[in-house]
Amino acid sequence: METSPWVRYLLAKQSVDDRALNRRVWQALEGQLAGFPPSQPLEVLELGAGIGTMLARMLRWGLLARARYTLLDAHPALEGFGRHWLRTWWERQGGQAVDRGETLVLHGPGVQVETRWVVARAEAFVDQAPPAAFDLVVAHAFLDLVDVEDFLPRLWPLLRPGGLAYFTLIFDGLTLFLPEAPDLAEDALLARYHESMNTRGHGSARSGRQALAWATAFPQARVLAAGASDWLVFPQNGAYPGDEAFFLEFIVETVYRALRQDPAVDPKLAEAWYRHRRADVESGRLLYAAHQWDLLLQKPLTIP
Ligand SMILES: C[S@@+](CC[C@H](N)C(=O)[O-])C[C@H]1O[C@@H](n2cnc3c(N)ncnc32)[C@H](O)[C@@H]1O
Repeated sequence: METSPWVRYLLAKQSVDDRALNRRVWQALEGQLAGFPPSQPLEVLELGAGIGTMLARMLRWGLLARARYTLLDAHPALEGFGRHWLRTWWERQGGQAVDRGETLVLHGPGVQVETRWVVARAEAFVDQAPPAAFDLVVAHAFLDLVDVEDFLPRLWPLLRPGGLAYFTLIFDGLTLFLPEAPDLAEDALLARYHESMNTRGHGSARSGRQALAWATAFPQARVLAAGASDWLVFPQNGAYPGDEAFFLEFIVETVYRALRQDPAVDPKLAEAWYRHRRADVESGRLLYAAHQWDLLLQKPLTIP
């Protein structure tokens, strides 16, 4: 199956995300899931699921046993690739996958996960879905793409009392490229890049802090765990692990695209920045970091 640059980016991102995910928050989720009755499949909704790499990670790291897992994404092309990729990946792990048309069921020792794909915008889905339908809502590298203060109160009725929300890699305001290059006016350019997240009509460059502040103030949410999950990509002996050089190229391209569309940015400055940072990736010397947060929230059993 052909891999588009976007899909290659989602695949390349896996090893970066594996390093970044906050293990304390992950372990808190693991501890909570152990309290759910094993006789019932866990009802899971993942928002902005992409091709399903978070579900694969949950299986790889032994988090899920019995579940009905809904993968929702607005991008229609991702379902076909995702189903194929997830199936192939799972079979390579020694598991069995049964395609039942509507659903793809993954079987393995102690594992039975029924997956279902939904192509929809999360904002429209949450307004139509039945209340109290899910035990766990996952949103990985997604929450900074929506207006959290508007979206989270609309999402919350979907959770059952006692249900959990696991929100990960929520961007929060810092992008760093090294080695320092004083001639690039990089701080000013990155400030414009962050501003583009605030003005594109959805999401924000401060989503991490907004989500945490929302959760601490919202009477129907409890923060069970929270912590940083920064992306940090760096070369060793001039080489990047896995496909992380491509990941970096994609990030540099994304920043450049935002700068090019910004009338407040001198196009020559943007071009000089792009060329410099592309060359840094090619020569295996670019270091990149992005500050992000992971949150584990719970809807209490009794609402105050
Ligand atoms: C940064 S990607 C992360 C994908 C996946 N969670 C991962 O980490 O591999 C964000 C995903 O959210 C999807 N998306 C963006 N806005 C959305 C929306 N409003 N509703 C549903 N999906 C959306 C995109 O199509 C994309 O697949």
